[in-house]
Amino acid sequence: MPLFEGLGSGGEKTAVVIDLGAAYTKCGFAGETGPRFIIPSEIKHPGSQEVVAVVQFNINTEELYTILKEFIHLLYFRHLLVNPRDRRVVVIESILCPSHYRDTLSRVLFRHFEVPSVLFAPSHLMSIMTLGLQSALVMDCGYTETLVLPIYEGIPILSAWEALPMGGKAIHKELQSLLSEQCTVDTDSSTGLQLPSVISHIPEDVVEDIKVRTCFVSDLQRGLKIQEAKFNTDAERPAPPPDVDYPLDGQKILHVKGFIRDSVAEMLFEQDNEEKSIATLLLDTLVKCPIDTRKVLSENLLIIGGTAMLPGFLHRLLAEIRSLVEKPKYRDALATKSFRIHSPPAKPNCTAWLGGAIFGALQDILGSRSVSRDYYNHTGRIPDWCCLSSPPPDSIYEAGKTPPPLMKRAFSTEK
Ligand SMILES: Nc1ncnc2c1ncn2[C@@H]1O[C@H](COP(=O)(O)OP(=O)(O)OP(=O)(O)O)[C@@H](O)[C@H]1O
Ligand SMILES: [Mg+2]
Repeated sequence: MPLFEGLGSGGEKTAVVIDLGAAYTKCGFAGETGPRFIIPSEIKHPGSQEVVAVVQFNINTEELYTILKEFIHLLYFRHLLVNPRDRRVVVIESILCPSHYRDTLSRVLFRHFEVPSVLFAPSHLMSIMTLGLQSALVMDCGYTETLVLPIYEGIPILSAWEALPMGGKAIHKELQSLLSEQCTVDTDSSTGLQLPSVISHIPEDVVEDIKVRTCFVSDLQRGLKIQEAKFNTDAERPAPPPDVDYPLDGQKILHVKGFIRDSVAEMLFEQDNEEKSIATLLLDTLVKCPIDTRKVLSENLLIIGGTAMLPGFLHRLLAEIRSLVEKPKYRDALATKSFRIHSPPAKPNCTAWLGGAIFGALQDILGSRSVSRDYYNHTGRIPDWCCLSSPPPDSIYEAGKTPPPLMKRAFSTEK
């Protein structure tokens, strides 16, 4: 890497690209095909030595500053091993990220690490860069929530976003309670013990491992029958897949019941009291979009986020959409019937990172789109799309360089 670094780019070092997710942080260098590291978004608090989440919004700013400082230090000096002062930074963020969080993150990056510039790039917009598209309906199904945002001709249609608190976290919670209620454990000395009598609490990383190794999403017909059997004891449930023995540690074997394996992900597709599921989010977003954009959007679906990696997820999602669109609620509102999902050149959990890495490699554009340290030191703030009193001032762009339309509009406050 150091040998070729900067060749053909006027000597500027490649940017650092960071996607700070609620569960995992992906970090690496612009122009590469995948993140160098995917690490849990948590850090030992320097004071109490407790492990704390890095992405949390309900703590005070000084506390957040301390946590972020520690975490970014870990990224640069344990993982990336580069000097923060040398490289621009691309931060992939959710459009729903609260302003105080990005303000604190910029303070850490500019004031403590003295990085030359930072670009806050919306994850949904970055993802479509991996496909060379200008328009797509992007769904991010990650850890805390599922967020749908349409992008049309490079402009996020902010008024049409839809979200549900459904993702990996909700599945882990459900799986944890099903495991403790329904599963048994064998130890060296006895068999068939109830789980809570052996272990009071299964750590979340073990629950996650059980999910990734044993659970899957059923197809539509099966899924509907599973949901019906859950609420109506007379309905017949499809035969469950075989039970799986999961080694909890050296001596304990957990018997994961087959019916848990195929039913735990159903919660994503079950409609709640407001008739919302992750599939209806996509259709509700389409209904909110201008009528002439709907066909293009429905034919360009892009699904990102780690939860979309569950086996059977995409197939089920498409089947749900195709069945829902025949219901009167959507049939009358949406004329479009064709839905297609793209397959981006990266795993769903890294698609947004890869988009950021592609954008970060366009060094001329990156320079003109980033907020520089000088600008930050001068004004003490960064432009924010949701704050009408602070639209991005032209002075953040370097003199003589016009921002490309895609990003200019993406960051503008126009709807
Ligand atoms: N192969 C896999 N199969 C199933 N689930 C997976 C797989 N890999 C990751 N996940 C799940 O994806 C979730 C993390 O996804 P992702 O990295 O997109 O979230 P995040 O970016 O950290 O969170 P958010 O986008 O909500 O801020 C975790 O719940 C994890 O269990
Ligand atoms: Mg994410």
